[in-house]
Amino acid sequence: MAFDSARQRRIMGHFATGVTVVTTGGPAGPHGLTANSVASLSLDPPLVLVAVDKRAHSMDFLQANRCFAVNILTREQEDVSRRFATPGPKDFEGLSLLPGVTGAPILADSLAFLDCRVHEILPGGDHLIFVGEIVGGEYHGGEPLLYYAGKYRRMLDPG
Ligand SMILES: Cc1cc2nc3c(=O)[nH]c(=O)nc-3n(C[C@H](O)[C@H](O)[C@H](O)COP(=O)(O)O)c2cc1C
Repeated sequence: MAFDSARQRRIMGHFATGVTVVTTGGPAGPHGLTANSVASLSLDPPLVLVAVDKRAHSMDFLQANRCFAVNILTREQEDVSRRFATPGPKDFEGLSLLPGVTGAPILADSLAFLDCRVHEILPGGDHLIFVGEIVGGEYHGGEPLLYYAGKYRRMLDPG
C-alpha cells in the first residue's frame, strides 16, 4: 500500500527550507512559481534541480522557454512568495527585474539567484524534475525567508 500522502506532507513539512521563486521567460512569456523543492545537484557540470507539480501552470512555460532563474527570497519578500504561490498568471508589477542571459527575469531584490538553461527534464511521479545548467548567478546578501511546518519563518540567528 502506498505511503499516506498526508503523513508524507506532515513529515517533510518539518524539513526546514529556504523559499525561492522560480521564474521563466522567453517565447511563452514570463511566469513563475514559489518553490522549495530546490537542490544543488552537481558542481561539475554546475547543475541545480527543482521539482514542479505536473498540474502547475508553470509547467508549459518552463518546457517552452527552456530556462529558469532560481531566486532565493529574503525575509522582506514574504509577499512575493505569496504572490507566486497563487496559481495562474503572475503579476510582475512593482518588482525590480533584471534580464537573465537565458531570458528568465531575475528578481533584483532577492538574496541570491541562479540563472539556468533547462538541461534535462526527468520524471518524478506527479512532478517533473527540471535540471538546470547554471550559466549565471550572484549573491546579493540579506536575511533569508524560511518555511517550516506550513508557516513562513525568520532566522533567530542570521549570523
Ligand atoms: C513555500 C512553498 C513552496 C512550494 N514549493 C513548490 C515546489 O517545490 N514545487 C511546486 O510545484 N509547487 C510548489 N509550491 C506551490 C506553488 O507555488 C503553487 O502551486 C503555485 O500556485 C503554482 O503556480 P502556477 O500554477 O501558476 O505554476 C510551493 C508553495 C509554497 C508556499
